[in-house]
Amino acid sequence: MTLAGIPTNEAAGNADARRAALEQIATEVRACTRCRLAQTRTHAVPGEGNPDTEVVFVGEGPGQTEDQQGRPFVGRAGDLLVKLISTLGWRRNEVFITNIVKCRPPGNRDPEPDEIAACVPYLRRQLEVLDPAVVVTLGRFSMAHFRPGERITQIHGTAVTAPPETGARDALAYALYHPAAALRSTEVERQSYDDIAGLPRVLREARSRRTGVGAGASPAPLPATDPDPDTIDEPGDDAPTLFQAEA
Ligand code: URA
Ligand code: SF4
Repeated sequence: MTLAGIPTNEAAGNADARRAALEQIATEVRACTRCRLAQTRTHAVPGEGNPDTEVVFVGEGPGQTEDQQGRPFVGRAGDLLVKLISTLGWRRNEVFITNIVKCRPPGNRDPEPDEIAACVPYLRRQLEVLDPAVVVTLGRFSMAHFRPGERITQIHGTAVTAPPETGARDALAYALYHPAAALRSTEVERQSYDDIAGLPRVLREARSRRTGVGAGASPAPLPATDPDPDTIDEPGDDAPTLFQAEA
């Protein structure tokens, strides 16, 4: 048994409709010229994964390998991300992986505010389709979108309610360091393993919230996937939305 079961969004319904909606968004992204990054990209990188997942990872933007292949997190940072995910017993095709900007900033520079503004409607639509229980932010730019005004050094390994206007209408936003930062620092790498170990607990917390009264989009009961009910949080209506994950 894995730490929290495979993160499947059983309550969410029609997998074929979701797949089609995500493919439609991806088609638009591949043809997009809404910002200057269109001029320098080789391939746009819409994102990929299981249309029925409960967990969406959001990075910053494609790097060189991603730009060459048109797929997210397939370079060195991606290898580490997959390794981190695998410590939970999950595979990359069981979650959804995408980025704040879908085209590579030249030379891996930071994305500009107007590029982010042009691109985030695609992310919003992806999240509206996926309706994840947890959005995992990878690094500063993703964190800034879901948890504005915070500092990564202070909030990594913690979750708060995602702003619904991001498209994640009923989700927790869990902050991780960017895997590229973990490649540059053994301390950040060590911390990243600790932080990802808290994700199953955050997922269980998110599931509990979503099955509560008023979790409008997900009326069906979720399957009990945890073999040990004592480890599941059962928060009341006044449960805090901010908590520190167990290391
Ligand atoms: N870094 C990112 O932020 N996203 C990718 O897809 C690859 C590397
Ligand atoms: Fe379009 Fe986003 Fe690519 Fe800019 S980064 S061209 S907005 S898909």
